[in-house]
Amino acid sequence: MRLTLHVWRQQGPRTKGRLVRYQMDNVDHEMSMLECLDVLNEELIGKGDEPIAFEHDCREGICGSCGFMINGVAHGPARATTVCQLTMRNFKDGDSLTIEPWRASAFPLIKDLVVDRRSFDRIVASGGYISVSTGNAPDANAILVPKDIADRAMDAAACIGCGACVAACPNASAALFTGAKISHLGVLPQGQPERHLRALSMVAQANLEGFGGCTNIGECTAVCPKEIPLEVIARMNRDYIAAALSQRDAEVNTIRPFTEWSTGSKLVNDPHATS
Ligand code: SF4
Ligand code: FES
Repeated sequence: MRLTLHVWRQQGPRTKGRLVRYQMDNVDHEMSMLECLDVLNEELIGKGDEPIAFEHDCREGICGSCGFMINGVAHGPARATTVCQLTMRNFKDGDSLTIEPWRASAFPLIKDLVVDRRSFDRIVASGGYISVSTGNAPDANAILVPKDIADRAMDAAACIGCGACVAACPNASAALFTGAKISHLGVLPQGQPERHLRALSMVAQANLEGFGGCTNIGECTAVCPKEIPLEVIARMNRDYIAAALSQRDAEVNTIRPFTEWSTGSKLVNDPHATS
C-alpha cells in the first residue's frame, strides 16, 4: 500500500515547526500506525536524517503514552483505539495522512509529535488519591463494594491519561480526564472521606494548568480510546458544587494546588512553575 504522510516536524519548543512530506511505497496492512512510523524512521536514519520523535511504551493500548492527530482526529479514524493499536487496514492505498501533535497550551510541545503532559500528573497529584496509613494489607472483604458501584468505578478508572480528550476539545478542556479521575474514587466507599476536597483541588489544579472549561460539546468522549462517558463530567460538577456550597468555610481555603505545595518535588522545566 502506498501512503503519503505529512508529519509535523519541530526541533523544539522554541523553533518553528512545519509539515514534512514523506512518501511510503510499501506499507503493510497489518502494521500499526506506530510500526509505520518505525519503518519510516529506519529509512530516515539510513539516509542520515533525524527520526520522527513520538511517544510510546506498551503498544497495547493500556499505558496512555502514545497519541497524535491523524487527519485532524485524535488517535485517528478507528473508534476506541489508540494509535499504537490502529492498524493500517484503516487506510486505503493512495491515502494522504496529516500527522500532528496534540495542540493545547497546557500540553507544550517538546519535539515533533511529543508534548509535555505533566499537567495531567499535577492534576492527579493535587487530589487523585485516597489517603491511607500504610501497614498490613487490610482484609479484601473488609469494605464491601456493590457490583454496580464497582463497575462504575472501573469504567472511570479505565482512563489511561492519553490526552486525546484535550486535543479534540475546541476549549482544550481536561474535564473528561479530571472527571474520570475524580469519579473512579468518588463512587467508592474508600473515596468518601476526601470526596469534597478532591473535587475542589483537582478542578482548581486543572484551571491553574490552563485547560479550558467544558461546554458539553462531546468531542472528548467521541475520541476517547477508553470510551469514558460524559457522565463523569456531570459527576465531577455535582461533587464540585456540593463541595463548594457545603464546605466553603472549612475546606475551600485549604486547597493547595500542586505547584504551590510541592516545590521540593517539582519537575524541572515545568512550564507553569513559578520561580
Ligand atoms: S478520558 Fe479518554 S481521552 Fe481523556 S485522557 Fe482519559 S483515556 Fe485519554
Ligand atoms: S503505547 Fe501504550 S497506549 Fe499506546
